[in-house]
Amino acid sequence: MEPVKVGLLGLGTVGGGTVNVLKRNAGEIARRAGRGVVISHAATRDLDKERICDTSGITLTTDPFAVVNDAEVQIVVELIGGDGLARELVLAAIDNGKHVVTANKALIAKHGNEIFERAQAKGVMVAFEAAVAGGIPVIKAVREGLAANRVEWLAGIINGTGNFILTEMRDAAQGSASAAGGGTPGAAKGRDFAEVLAEAQALGYAEADPTFDVEGIDAAHKLTILASIAFGIPLQFEACFTEGISNITREDVHYAEELGYRIKHLGVARRTEAGVELRVHPTLIPERRLIANVDGVMNAVLVKGDAVGPTLYYGAGAGAEPTASAVVADLVDVTRTLTADPENRVPHLAFQPDALSDLPILPMAEIETAYYLRLQAIDRPGVLADVTRILGDSGISIEAILQKEPVGDSEATVIILTHRVQEAKMDYAIGAIEALDSIDGEIMRIRLETLDAD
Ligand code: HSE
Repeated sequence: MEPVKVGLLGLGTVGGGTVNVLKRNAGEIARRAGRGVVISHAATRDLDKERICDTSGITLTTDPFAVVNDAEVQIVVELIGGDGLARELVLAAIDNGKHVVTANKALIAKHGNEIFERAQAKGVMVAFEAAVAGGIPVIKAVREGLAANRVEWLAGIINGTGNFILTEMRDAAQGSASAAGGGTPGAAKGRDFAEVLAEAQALGYAEADPTFDVEGIDAAHKLTILASIAFGIPLQFEACFTEGISNITREDVHYAEELGYRIKHLGVARRTEAGVELRVHPTLIPERRLIANVDGVMNAVLVKGDAVGPTLYYGAGAGAEPTASAVVADLVDVTRTLTADPENRVPHLAFQPDALSDLPILPMAEIETAYYLRLQAIDRPGVLADVTRILGDSGISIEAILQKEPVGDSEATVIILTHRVQEAKMDYAIGAIEALDSIDGEIMRIRLETLDAD
């Protein structure tokens, strides 16, 4: 059988990796797909740019629509990113009856409902394994491997750049602890936030706009997609609560460790009776959890199904060949189903399009979690009593309190871990505590999840 012809939009890091993997593993891929898979036409912004791949045998163009309109191309791979031109190209490819493979999480999270509806009407597939957690086949695992389960919740480290930064901050904090004889975070200089971010950019992990990594937007794109395939709900990116890591200090990382926790930038999606929690924020998790030990640019997604229990998917979440691994797996999947009945393909969002649920996304005020609070208090009698009274009056139960001795004339730092409570109650209590004369500045609040099996 003739090889299937693929058109490629974007010949950057992931595009180059895709060309290389397809060439290097051509034999293995053909044995799996039932026929060869070759890139015949590729669009790139700059024809003369030095590349990580050999483009011999590929027609190169600067016009992406030439690829999308190429009559010989059966599958279009979209790797240009963004959700403007990429959306236009993907919709044009679908209208031309071509199948699409994309690594574009922003595109799927924001325009997936429209794209899948159009693809369904045209009887073509849109595959997006590479959009979430790079090389980890977590879309396939949740959509197909866990198809027997009622997924209860999932929690993921789904941005490698953010995880790299938090990991570096931890190493710095540990270094300072030993340098200061085990007590004073900040006494030794750790790695600067900007320096660590620059390294992630140089390694090719960071988004074009690194605020997408640091402020959690990239993770929110990915969590939106995961929640849809886990719970069978439409994509609702706008409803995802997103808080970044730029406010996390090395002191917080250090104090969390003293209490037996790690701070990770988690995406959490949980199904409750009232609706779905969909939130990205820094989170304390017990250091004994496997996912707490996922460091550097690695990603991991923990998924709890009612039948299987907790399952953990770990691997490289970014980079040329890890992401190409997912792109090529999608190409194999699509190639296998080219001749199959379009009505009997795996649905884009795991559940049949007419069986999606209208379960609402819950506002943050209604979610329930535990908390880490850090406050600066004037060191005088009765301050802690005032704080604990406000927490008690708000129905908030304390799990642990740590008070750091003031150094010189400075204020005392108080760390409080609470039991689970509704966010609205915590908002109220924080407001009341901040209004006390004895409390200086704003209270640092970091949510805490124990990620128990039940
Ligand atoms: N900027 C992303 C990350 C790349 O750091 O994980 C993969 O989506």
